[in-house]
Amino acid sequence: MAEAKLIDGKAHAERLRRQVAEGVAAFVEQHGTKPGLATVLVGADAASQVYVKSKGKTAIELGMASFDHRLPAETTEEELLALVARLNADPTIHGILVQLPLPRHIDSAKVLLAIDPAKDVDGFHPVNVGRLGSIGAGAPLDFPVPCTPLGCSMLLADAVGNLAGKSAVVVGRSTLVGRPVAQLLLRADCTVTIAHSRTRDLPALCRTADILVVAIGKPEFLRGDWIKPGAAVIDVGINRVPAGDGKTRLVGDVAFDEARHVAGCLTPVPGGVGPMTVACLMYNTLRSAQ
Ligand code: GUN
Repeated sequence: MAEAKLIDGKAHAERLRRQVAEGVAAFVEQHGTKPGLATVLVGADAASQVYVKSKGKTAIELGMASFDHRLPAETTEEELLALVARLNADPTIHGILVQLPLPRHIDSAKVLLAIDPAKDVDGFHPVNVGRLGSIGAGAPLDFPVPCTPLGCSMLLADAVGNLAGKSAVVVGRSTLVGRPVAQLLLRADCTVTIAHSRTRDLPALCRTADILVVAIGKPEFLRGDWIKPGAAVIDVGINRVPAGDGKTRLVGDVAFDEARHVAGCLTPVPGGVGPMTVACLMYNTLRSAQ
C-alpha cells in the first residue's frame, strides 16, 4: 500500500491568511476602518492563553484591529455579560470571541447567547447553530460557521474534491466540532454517520468510511486497521503526551504511524487541522465586517 498523502494544513492556512489579508486591505480602502476582533479570556488557563494570543497576533498580522480582554478567574457572569453587551454595541468591533472553557461559575450557554449573532465569529450562538442545521445541500454559508469544522471541510474539499455520495463517519459528537462537521459534510452531499462513546463496534463502522473525521480528544485512539484503505482521514485531536526524558509531544486522536500506511490522505498533528482554526477565525471576522 502506498503511503498516505499528507494534507498540509499549514500551507493551506497560509494561503487562506493571504486571501484574508487581501480582503482586509480592500475593506480598509473602502470603509476607512479596520475589521475589529475582540477576544475575551476569563482566567489563566495555559492552553487558552496560547490560543487567544495567537488569535490576536494573527488578526494584527492580517491588518485587522485586535482588542484583547483578559479578565480574572473571579469575574462574575454579570460582569462578563456586561462586557459582551459593550462589545455588541461597539461599531469598531465586528467579531467577538469568548474563549472556552469558561470558569465553572459562569454559564457558557448564557454568555454565547448574549453575543450578537452577526458578530459571533465562532459560530456558537444558537441562531448560527440553527442556521447550519437547516441549510440545504450546497446552500451558501452566509453566516458564521465554527472555525475548526470549517477548516476540516476546506481541507477535505481540497484533498478529495467532490464529496457527493461519499460515506463519512464523524467520530465525536461535540457541539464545537463533531456536530458542525457532520452538518458541513451533509451540506456537501456526504452520507454521514456520527459515532460516539456508545457506538457499537466502532472499528467496523470506521472501516465503512470514505471520509473519517476524528474529534474525541483521546491520544492515538483510532488505529490503522480501523481505516478503509485509501480513505481520507482528518485528525482534529491535539493531545500532549509524555515523550520520555520528562519531555512531551503532540499527538492526534489517530495512531498516525499506523494510519499513514492505510489512508489515502491524512492530516498530521501538528500541522494539519490546527493551523486552519485560526485562519478560519480570521476569515469569519472579515466576513462579519463585510
Ligand atoms: N476553546 C477551544 N477551541 C475554541 C474555539 O474554537 N473557540 C473558542 N471560543 N474557544 C475554544
